[in-house]
Amino acid sequence: PQKRYYNWTLSEISANPDGVWRTLLAINSRFPGPLVEANEGDTLVIDVHNQMANSTSFHWHGFHQNGTNFMDGTVGVTSCAIPPGSSFRYEFKADFLRGTYWYHAHFSTMRIDGLFGPLIVHSPKETIGMEYASDRVVMVQDYYHDLSHALLPTYLAPDNENAEPVPNTALINGKGVFDCSKVKEPYRCDASKATLEVLDLEKDKSHRLRFINVGAFAELDVSLDEHEVSLIEVDGVEVVPHPMNRFRINVAQRYSIIVPPRPAGESFWLRARMFEHCFAEIPETLQPEVKAIVSYSSSAAKTPTSKTWADSPGLECKDMNTTEVSPLHAIEAPKMADILIPLRSNFEIGAYRLSRGFFNKTSWRPSQTPTLLQAIDGLATDNASFVEPQNTVLTSAYDIKRQLVVKLDAGKVVDLLVDNFDDGNHPFHLHGHKFWVLGQGKGYFDLANYNSLNTTNPLRRDTVTIEAFGWVLIRFVADNPGMWAMHCHLAWHSEAGMLMQFLVGADTVKTWAVPEQVQNVCAHPEMQRGGPL
Ligand code: C2O
Ligand code: CU
Repeated sequence: PQKRYYNWTLSEISANPDGVWRTLLAINSRFPGPLVEANEGDTLVIDVHNQMANSTSFHWHGFHQNGTNFMDGTVGVTSCAIPPGSSFRYEFKADFLRGTYWYHAHFSTMRIDGLFGPLIVHSPKETIGMEYASDRVVMVQDYYHDLSHALLPTYLAPDNENAEPVPNTALINGKGVFDCSKVKEPYRCDASKATLEVLDLEKDKSHRLRFINVGAFAELDVSLDEHEVSLIEVDGVEVVPHPMNRFRINVAQRYSIIVPPRPAGESFWLRARMFEHCFAEIPETLQPEVKAIVSYSSSAAKTPTSKTWADSPGLECKDMNTTEVSPLHAIEAPKMADILIPLRSNFEIGAYRLSRGFFNKTSWRPSQTPTLLQAIDGLATDNASFVEPQNTVLTSAYDIKRQLVVKLDAGKVVDLLVDNFDDGNHPFHLHGHKFWVLGQGKGYFDLANYNSLNTTNPLRRDTVTIEAFGWVLIRFVADNPGMWAMHCHLAWHSEAGMLMQFLVGADTVKTWAVPEQVQNVCAHPEMQRGGPL
């Protein structure tokens, strides 16, 4: 094992990745952020120097941070934001299996303004079910032409019917080409240098593409024209190779595919299309699809003439169905849970209320003092209320200041049954753990089936989609002491309060010393600068 050092300076840049000029938040002046890589067992040391006007913090999505809860970077939960002009050293281990992860800012909505990038854990001997000659990252995302904080006030205004800001377009690896003729004042557009991403792959070999949805709000349908590919990894979990032609990837999810060998000279469109029926309105300037070019051993990328699956007669399009996917390295889920936590997630909107997201009638607002520090003090101070599991179904009135923090003894097996009373899909992410997906569907879970769930090697992952008016049942072993967020990963929804926390192993947590650099940023007067409205 090695230590791997990264040195980042954060700044605001003016850039036009798709042609339209805007302010982006950049790491070492780059958009998207640089690739971070490690081998299993390595330690990552990332020095962050904040030269931006606002505070920020970084989260390492999918990393368990076992014993390093302070490095989880979730403002209000484990961390304080790094003030302008200050530095912070993240240091933590890649102490689990290889796979595809990512990092992003975890303060208000600023991650979608450019503070994100891929985080890949390799094994020194990397072969996952299938061999491959090359290994690439493909970040897909929706994209806005405005800073997120310019969009927030309208979104969070009362009585807006929970209409999330509609993205302008989509990008692949930070690239796209917007139609400048549709751009109106005050935006400026010059797409003469904008290009589509080109992935040139060696002929006659298989290749691995690691997809990450780094976007704000939109699920994306991804397909590679005229290719049958194999899914081999889901959120850092290797799976039995699963053939498919097209997959849907929600915000923060990751999928690796193997692209089979092709002869030299051919080229094809790789397409990522926003799942736009969830948008509040469809503006006529919307460019819902972005393409990249996949070519084989060609020095000059030709414009592909390949067709979509829908336009390819005789070819049947096969969508990924995650219920048919099973992990390559089987891990049985415990047969029974110790605790079942029912959670109701919904948005409460209306003329007399703020438009907020709720879990069991609580809507999160980050505390000044991170709840981890409150737990170390052994107090429920600030506006947090620490509840025991049996009290999690709160029956009183909605409370937009209350934090839902569920205390768990270390080692407990926990079932979380989430009911979605909202008309949109939500990708839920649990920090510090992977979970088994034991079931999901429309309507309500039938509790009569609770004792006959399939626990034989179900899919494990860290971000699961709960469909509109649907449910999901996940099981996890709370074996990682710390304060861990569980939240909807849509940037607008977590900002609207759809976040709860688990305090695992309170006795262990109470003995932790607060690192000096954490004390320093938490004591800084500018700590919350640029934070939630
Ligand atoms: Cu990708 Cu709470 O994070
Ligand atoms: Cu959501």
